[in-house]
This record gives sequence, structure tokens and C-alpha cells, in this order.
Amino acid sequence: MLGPESGTLAREHRPGGDTLVRIDNVYKSFGTLRVLNGVSLEIKRGQTTVIIGPSGTGKSVLLKLIVGLLKPDRGNVFYDEQCVNKMTPAQHVQVRKQIGFLFQMSALFDSMDVGQNVEFPLVEHTDMTDAERDERVDRVLRMVGLSGLQRKWPGSMSGGQQKRVALARAIVLEPSLVMYDEPTTGLDPIRADLINELIIALNTKFGITSIVVTHDMASAAKIADRMLLLYDGNIICDGDPETFLRSENPLVQRFIQGQADQIELESIQQGLGDKDTDG
Ligand SMILES: Nc1ncnc2c1ncn2[C@@H]1O[C@H](COP(=O)(O)OP(=O)(O)OP(=O)(O)O)[C@@H](O)[C@H]1O
Ligand SMILES: [Mg+2]
Repeated sequence: MLGPESGTLAREHRPGGDTLVRIDNVYKSFGTLRVLNGVSLEIKRGQTTVIIGPSGTGKSVLLKLIVGLLKPDRGNVFYDEQCVNKMTPAQHVQVRKQIGFLFQMSALFDSMDVGQNVEFPLVEHTDMTDAERDERVDRVLRMVGLSGLQRKWPGSMSGGQQKRVALARAIVLEPSLVMYDEPTTGLDPIRADLINELIIALNTKFGITSIVVTHDMASAAKIADRMLLLYDGNIICDGDPETFLRSENPLVQRFIQGQADQIELESIQQGLGDKDTDG
């Protein structure tokens, strides 16, 4: 899978197994702002599902609903047949352990070194010995290419390195599902591709199911078995990358090609015009 054809659309897509995550008619608002408007979606075990969509459309909210950090106003979210939004705190901890979450902001603890950051979920959720934890931390840091950097401080590392530390922390409990919220944002193309390769490797070598939110279309086309466009509270396009990228839906094409629409352009032009007359 990491051979010469990776990165082209020729890669074979994994068909996916049974349903790991089921989102059933979910509504979510914040005050008067309706974010999700009856979203239904099934994530298949073993697949990498990429979610794209405009800023503020509810992609991060969707991930937080899956892991139970937010609750739907209406509808249900199931992880492995268990309803996440109706769990007891103890049941929720069990599910939480099976889901790695790479947050949009890396969210590392600045007061802890890299080793302590990565070790944190092991301390919280396992009764591993010190030696077992050291061994596991060493292994995941090697997996993300940061071998031996346990005693570094996150604040002294580059953005790309911090993302990889956060990724190491997200996978340290050996989760079945990893959710990546904009994993390549802010990285140069080479560092971004390293993250793409890591996502592919975790999926193909360890069978980890992945959900990736991204604005990076090159990354999406490279890693996705399936792509979704979330727009205005609903999923408006869903398919394998080839079908998705060729969709004739103008919203999809506008998004893929990064084109602003006429109304957006006029509003900017008006704004610039106003500034001109002001100054
Ligand atoms: N806890 C919250 N309280 C109030 N509003 C929220 C909360 N979380 C998200 N929102 C609002 O919900 C909307 C969707 O937010 P979300 O973070 O999911 O967007 P997104 O699609 O991830 O955008 P981006 O691509 O910029 O990350 C936004 O308008 C946001 O301000
Ligand atoms: Mg977001």
C-alpha cells in the first residue's frame, strides 16, 4: 500500500467490514445556530472516511459527537452498536479508550515532556507497570518517527513534530478508531505527506478505522476509501474518491476546486470598494 502507486487514484479502496459508527438522524444546535440538521451516516470498520466541508459547517462537532464530548439534541450516535449519548460515565470511559482523537489543535500539555504527554492515557486508563508504559511510549514514538524524543518539551518542537506527538498520544492505547481533525493543516507539503503516510500505515498495517476531517484535497484523494461533503447541516455527497471527485454537484466541484461563489466575491469586492471610498 505504501508502494509507488500510493498517492494516485489507482489505489484500491478497502470495502470496509461491518458498521463501527452509526449516526442516526442527528440534530445539533448551539443556541439559535443549527449546525447539524438530521445527519445519518455509517462508518465501516477498516475504512478511511474523509469528511470535507466549509469552515464552521460542523465537522469538528460531528467528531465530538462520535466520541461523546458533545451530545446530540435529537437522534443517536452508536459506537460498535452501543449508544454513545445514552451511556453511563463508566461505559463511556470504555468507549473513549477505543477511540483515538487527534484534535484540531494538538492540545499537548505544555507542562509535561513528550514522554509524559504520550504516556498520559496509559496512566489514566491502564494498570501497566512503568516498564510496560516506557516500552509502549517508545514504540509509538518510533511509529511516528520521533524515536528517543521523550524528554523534549512540546513548546520547543515544530508544528509538524507536535502533531506527531499528539498522534502518538492518540494511538498509544491501540484504539480501533482514530479520528483526525485537520491533521495536515499548517504543515509544509512534505510533513503533510508524512502524516498521510502514517494515516495509511495505521489503517493498512493495524486495521485501524479512520475518520479524517481535512481541507487538504491532495491528502483526501490520497488516503480516502470514501469521501463525504458536509454542507449546510447535511451530508450532500458521499462516495469513493473517484466518484466523489467527479461528482457533477456544483457545490462539490466548487469545494474541490476552491472557488468562491459570485455572492462571496461580490461581498469582498464591495468591502474593498468601501475601504477605497473611506480612505
Ligand atoms: N461548544 C460550542 N458552543 C457554541 N458553538 C459551537 C460550539 N462548538 C462549535 N460551535 C459552533 O458550531 C459551528 C460548527 O463548528 P465546527 O467547529 O464543527 O466547525 P468546522 O466544520 O469544524 O469548521 P473548521 O473547518 O473551521 O474547523 C461553528 O459555528 C461553531 O462556532
Ligand atoms: Mg473543525
